[in-house]
Amino acid sequence: MNKWWNEAVIYQIYPRSFQDSNGDGEGDLKGITSRLDYVKALGVDAIWLSPFYKTPNKDGGYDVADPRDVDPRFGTLEDARKLFEKAHSIGLRVVVDIVPNHFSSEHKWFKEALKSPKGSEARNRFHFYDGKDANTPPNNWISLFGGPAWTQIADGQWYLHLFDSSQPDLNWDNPEVAEDFEETIRFWIDLGADGFRIDVAHGLAKEDIHVDHYDPQGLSDALRLDVLMEVEKRNSYLAKIPFFDRDGVHEIYRKWRKIFDSYGDREIMAVAEVWVHPPKRATLYVRPDELHQFFNFDVMNAPFDSEYLYKSISDMLNLVKEQSAWPTWCLSNHDSERVASRIGSQAARAMALFVLGLPGSAYIYNGQELGLPSGEMSDSDRQDPIFFRTNGKQKGRDGARVPMPWSGETSPFGFTNGKPWLPLQNDWKEFTVEHELADLNSSLNLYKRALELRKEYFLGSGELTWTRTNGLLSYKRGKVEVLINISDQEIPISGKVILASQTIADVLPPATAIWLLS
Ligand code: GLC
Ligand code: CA
Repeated sequence: MNKWWNEAVIYQIYPRSFQDSNGDGEGDLKGITSRLDYVKALGVDAIWLSPFYKTPNKDGGYDVADPRDVDPRFGTLEDARKLFEKAHSIGLRVVVDIVPNHFSSEHKWFKEALKSPKGSEARNRFHFYDGKDANTPPNNWISLFGGPAWTQIADGQWYLHLFDSSQPDLNWDNPEVAEDFEETIRFWIDLGADGFRIDVAHGLAKEDIHVDHYDPQGLSDALRLDVLMEVEKRNSYLAKIPFFDRDGVHEIYRKWRKIFDSYGDREIMAVAEVWVHPPKRATLYVRPDELHQFFNFDVMNAPFDSEYLYKSISDMLNLVKEQSAWPTWCLSNHDSERVASRIGSQAARAMALFVLGLPGSAYIYNGQELGLPSGEMSDSDRQDPIFFRTNGKQKGRDGARVPMPWSGETSPFGFTNGKPWLPLQNDWKEFTVEHELADLNSSLNLYKRALELRKEYFLGSGELTWTRTNGLLSYKRGKVEVLINISDQEIPISGKVILASQTIADVLPPATAIWLLS
């Protein structure tokens, strides 16, 4: 049976960077609402909003101080309700983020835990432990943002934080934690949300607190954003991290699935962020009684290499089928280098055509449709905790979070009337929505056309036949053949081209893709 999410195109909005409505330099919910017609006109089916909940904003809102309230910088609960209402009125569904691995240290529970004694109920909502000795944390786990994953408090105990020290991990063995999240899930569905993107979905169960990691330094290197591209290295570490992907996590999602299903034909869906290896482990999260989708990061970080992509994509297609699920594809998000910078703007256009033809659902990160590169900035502008926790050794993720350029000749390009929280590049004039709408060959118009034709030719069947798998990578779906040239040779083509990533004649140049009607 076809569900709305099986082949949906979902547009990720990073609220702080989309549209400012009140001149404070930060995007907000009213700003998003005012731009929903633009989003709808792209041809997408749904939006996913990164967190807009109450937050001290130490980690771009992924440090939640109250999961059932809106942070004043983003607006009010009423603004959220109006956003959902407007989205629904123009036929867009809304997926919201949920961050169950940790709270902010500003959450009332953590403040209470700090004031309460060792062993108290209040401490038991988090992971507080005594150290191996007075100065040594309970284990050698590292924070994914650099440095140790433990911080010591005044009475000598340590608390666990897989991310920043302002993001204490929650203890999912405590039923109070589970109940609180169930309340949050219902709260947002009742307000109008159609689904959830589950942050760090693979991290919740901490079953091996007393198991050290065998190589924390190697792990810390493998997790550096700039080496994520070295897929082999990353994957070999991911497979062995004692704080990820414990079996107990699935129990949580089986319970959540019952809640989602209890809303019947609202068809609530959940997509998981899972960093695990091998990919077969990720498909366990989409067993029929668990979640609906997981992000396939293997393709997002893949080298522009035909052998690698063929194997990665065809393995994924086969693996999800075993669970009767559908795959997802993404090329960028708020945590990664933008695809146009990572593989080059021409290859990014080609990859967009290549993945938008595949069966499954596609995620587009705001600005990706413009072919926007990662923003550059001086260190004094940076805000990502990764930059600070690594003492500047890693630049962090701010480059992917620079606000959207909408219109005009110079920064801030219609994003705000004030000073943008991160600087937009002064030479982004040709990347504005206004400019690209008027240019037939723009990346924006390529995406719009692709989404139109996708509806016309591709949706419905999950079947695909590979036609060439070396240098030229191609597959057929129904009447259409999708080809991408990942070699350094020009390749002759024949047939009726219905869409091309660049203007082409009768050969397909390197790093281009086409859709052919046969
Ligand atoms: C996820 C989010 C990322 C955040 C982290 C901690 O990976 O995508 O932005 O920093 O979780 O919540
Ligand atoms: Ca604002």
